[in-house]
Amino acid sequence: MSELAIIGGTGLTRLGKLQIERREVMHTPYGEPSGALTIGRLCGKEVVFLARHGYGHTIPPHMVNYRANLWALKEHGVSRVIAVCAVGGIRSDLVPSTIVIPDQIIDYTWSRNHTFFESDLSEVTHIDFTEPYSNEMRQVLLEAAARAGVAAIAGGTYGACQGPRLETAAEIDRMERDGCHMVGMTGMPEAALARELGLCYAVIAVSANAAAGRGEGIISMDDIEVNLTRGMDQVRAILEQVITATG
Ligand code: HPA
Repeated sequence: MSELAIIGGTGLTRLGKLQIERREVMHTPYGEPSGALTIGRLCGKEVVFLARHGYGHTIPPHMVNYRANLWALKEHGVSRVIAVCAVGGIRSDLVPSTIVIPDQIIDYTWSRNHTFFESDLSEVTHIDFTEPYSNEMRQVLLEAAARAGVAAIAGGTYGACQGPRLETAAEIDRMERDGCHMVGMTGMPEAALARELGLCYAVIAVSANAAAGRGEGIISMDDIEVNLTRGMDQVRAILEQVITATG
């Protein structure tokens, strides 16, 4: 049974070094996940991989079935999830290709299925979300980054936006005033759903671009692709270290 899962975001639809052993199609009470779970060995240890946007990158951020994805992983027996998310850098040090292990979230998304606690209304269930990510898992990621020689930034607030469009400069100004250091489209409700299921969950954020109004001119999709390719090489190096140490 694979206990560790990796959710790959934009730029990480597969793990090159994963020796794939099988794929498992999962059905959940919440519908279909983004794809079959890919189960294999990375550095000799079993891991589950799921591409958040589908293996052909066809599912936009607001259409991802976050509930089905997390439910399927939990059902499979996963207890720890490392999620990889592309972001735009708001804080000036989050230059393209920088790796950040965020520690806080502000949620600006709307109209997404954001909870498992909506059908059994016999009891109202609340979760504590003071620390939205597992600090234990964050430490594992930061130590793995250090061993991999990747200068990952420890902490930062992830502003989760609806997408699929990028933001206006004024929206980014507002987010900065709110305290956001980076902006992405997939961080929520994924993190909250993981907490509802009791999963140990943390994010590796990869800066793909300077957020709107923070770089020079408009945001180039070609530049994003180049920056993400560079960033994902670092993500792979971190993941290999995580698995070697804790598998
Ligand atoms: N905004 C929102 N999501 C993103 C960005 C951005 O600038 N870059 C990568 N994902």
